[in-house]
Amino acid sequence: MEKPKLTIDEMAVFCKRKGFVYPTSEIYGGIAGFYDFGHLGVELKNNIKNEWWKAFVQQREDIVGIDGSIITNPMVWKASGHVDGFTDVLVDCRKCGSRFRGDHLIEDKLKISTAGMSLDEIAKEISRHKIKCQKCGSELGEPKKFNLMFATNIGPMQASSSAAYLRPETAQVIFTNFKLVQENARLKLPFGIAQIGKAFRNEISPREFLFRMREFEQMEIEYFVHPEKQEDCPYIDEILDYELNVLSADMQKQKKKMQKMPIKECLNKKIIKTRWHAYWLATMHKWFADLGANPEHFRIRQHVKDELSHYALDTWDLEYEFPFGWKELQGLSNRTDFDLKQHMQHSKTDLSIFDEETKKKIIPHVICEPSQGVERAFLVFMFDAYNYDKKRDNVVLKLHPKLCPIKIGVFPLLSNKEDLVKKARDVYNELVKEWTCTFDLSGSIGRRYARADEIGVYACVTIDFDSLEDNSVTVRSRDTTEQIRVKIKELKEILRKFLDGEKLGKLGEKVE
Ligand code: GAP
Repeated sequence: MEKPKLTIDEMAVFCKRKGFVYPTSEIYGGIAGFYDFGHLGVELKNNIKNEWWKAFVQQREDIVGIDGSIITNPMVWKASGHVDGFTDVLVDCRKCGSRFRGDHLIEDKLKISTAGMSLDEIAKEISRHKIKCQKCGSELGEPKKFNLMFATNIGPMQASSSAAYLRPETAQVIFTNFKLVQENARLKLPFGIAQIGKAFRNEISPREFLFRMREFEQMEIEYFVHPEKQEDCPYIDEILDYELNVLSADMQKQKKKMQKMPIKECLNKKIIKTRWHAYWLATMHKWFADLGANPEHFRIRQHVKDELSHYALDTWDLEYEFPFGWKELQGLSNRTDFDLKQHMQHSKTDLSIFDEETKKKIIPHVICEPSQGVERAFLVFMFDAYNYDKKRDNVVLKLHPKLCPIKIGVFPLLSNKEDLVKKARDVYNELVKEWTCTFDLSGSIGRRYARADEIGVYACVTIDFDSLEDNSVTVRSRDTTEQIRVKIKELKEILRKFLDGEKLGKLGEKVE
């Protein structure tokens, strides 16, 4: 089995050809930074979100979920700091008017990290290295700050009094609902509030397909702890031996390479400062690995001092080795009590909670905010699942069974034999009650297997002439092409076990 390195453009072509992702409104020329998900893409995206929600909300007693609105009172964004500080550096071409992100111009030309560079430093680097327009080669204008929030108006007026913003992150709606959720769900510290939903950023240069979009989805948790009990992490033992590739701020300063180490070493050497931060980094990494991503393609990287957001005391990114380099997949920040305090001050509302032990009011700290873009997770699962099988001369998309857009394919061996087609339909009608299935009649059986492998169908069920006699069918594994013969009355139970991870060969008589 050979695994060629797909470029991001090749992945975009594959996703479009197979019905995963389309550039939006392409018949009108499209619009940069916006994408539509096709019939397979929507299933994969929903599966990713469902797995995340199950793992971090439904199967945990310490976390509850909410679903907030996209447009809020604009004061939310004043208080959060986004109105004043949510900016990137914009550079215009003096001649053709093309617009670029200052840090991207430097990264592309000098192949260096711009993490933490200020507006002035970016301006100096552009001038020092005589960086020109990437489109026409002309002089660039003065770099300036550009706010990334999408502005809109509420109601029929176009006045400043009706101005509002599309949310640039889901986090703030969690903070504004903090008190209501805490009281109504009767949450006791430590606890988390989670949300999955759309976020919008007017990116200066959206690029790399789904990596940098203007409309995307986030899966976020704000995890709150008692300000004086920031080290009490009851789950720490679960992950102490878990190993990660680590690149701390110090290692970056000393130009050292990432190093694989267990969490307990990161804590003992104070590379990761708090247990909770370590816990969430390992837990999020494990979530990806458990769903089939290759753990070696990940590392955790600490933000260097100048790179930290205005709200963050410490941030680690879970990074993935994309074809265009190591990039942020998920940000995990220690936001302290910054946000609750900001909202208390701006809304004049008490968001503190009563501590039964000390009989005092306290403002909880967000010890960690794991913030994951759904589309970046989508890319990771697609890249790690994509395999070109030389022997089959075909792509095999080895998605984890929990993520497969279509779990089972049902095929009559020959599509022009009425009795085979009818029996296959009956099987399909039964299976589709439980799983996403495809019923394919066109082309040879080999062609149908190949088509199914390419879109990640986990198992194929074939109905042949023997099936008419003995009510048995063939089940084929996508990953090994191994086949077994099973009775139709046992088919559901066997498929359930196979989708749960059991080896196909153990579930029935092998067919040579
Ligand atoms: N609440 C914190 C926050 O929003 P962030 O690092 O700006 O932090 C979190 O974003 C995650 O959202 C990123 O790690 C990434 O997965 C995703 N994300 C951010 N901007 C994105 C964009 N323009 N396109 C796609 N995903 C994006």
